[in-house]
Amino acid sequence: MTEPPAPHDADNGVDTATDTDTGVGAAYDAVATLYAELFGDALDTRPLERGLLAAFAELVRAHGAGPVADVGCGPGHLTAHLHALGSPAFGVDLSPAMVALARRAHPHLRFDEGSMTDLDLADGVLGGVLASYSAIHTPPPRVPAVFAEFRRVLAPGGHLLLGFYAGDDPEPREFDHRVAPAYRWSLDALADLLRRAGFAEVARLRREPLDGERFHQAHLLVRKS
Ligand SMILES: C[S@@+](CC[C@H](N)C(=O)[O-])C[C@H]1O[C@@H](n2cnc3c(N)ncnc32)[C@H](O)[C@@H]1O
Repeated sequence: MTEPPAPHDADNGVDTATDTDTGVGAAYDAVATLYAELFGDALDTRPLERGLLAAFAELVRAHGAGPVADVGCGPGHLTAHLHALGSPAFGVDLSPAMVALARRAHPHLRFDEGSMTDLDLADGVLGGVLASYSAIHTPPPRVPAVFAEFRRVLAPGGHLLLGFYAGDDPEPREFDHRVAPAYRWSLDALADLLRRAGFAEVARLRREPLDGERFHQAHLLVRKS
């Protein structure tokens, strides 16, 4: 995915420097409309991502263990795509403006405000979790806790699909994301963290950047073991 232009014209009051949930949510509030305009139809030009989402939806459905939570759903376009594929899905996002946009664009679907660090869901109720370019904003020391939270809400055998920017360094690196602090990870490093969090790898994808994308794009599909 590409990124929207920076929301900060120095005086818009958005603090993009903080790594707290509040700072990230406020930063996305400031660009929510623009984000939806720029990326609401991003899947149309990304056949590999469409293929992965179709496989994810099929695996979740076949397992029959519950709906998919699209965590960090933004304007809800991926939630709606999953729904159209026949997977019951709902969205969760930190940014109230994103949730409002998602509800307006997809009134037939459920969207909740909330954080991936503390999901308002009982243990084991989900068949799938989609986290597409949302956990990129989690400071690396907190990522294991987020993966533990994903594992908590997934049913046994439930699937997690994670999208992020690939990096070549073994260590995660912060980069100059235009909205909020964000980190690139190597596929191996994140796959290893997922394994240690109790997930078994199903598949991985690293694709070349498209026009307008700065980095390789990475996706990991794992199953709660
Ligand atoms: C780059 S956008 C990705 C949106 C959408 N998933 C996509 O792939 O286009 C990141 C989204 O994650 C949300 N987000 C960031 N940290 C979050 C957290 N801790 N809990 C829930 N949502 C979060 C942001 O508010 C934002 O809407």
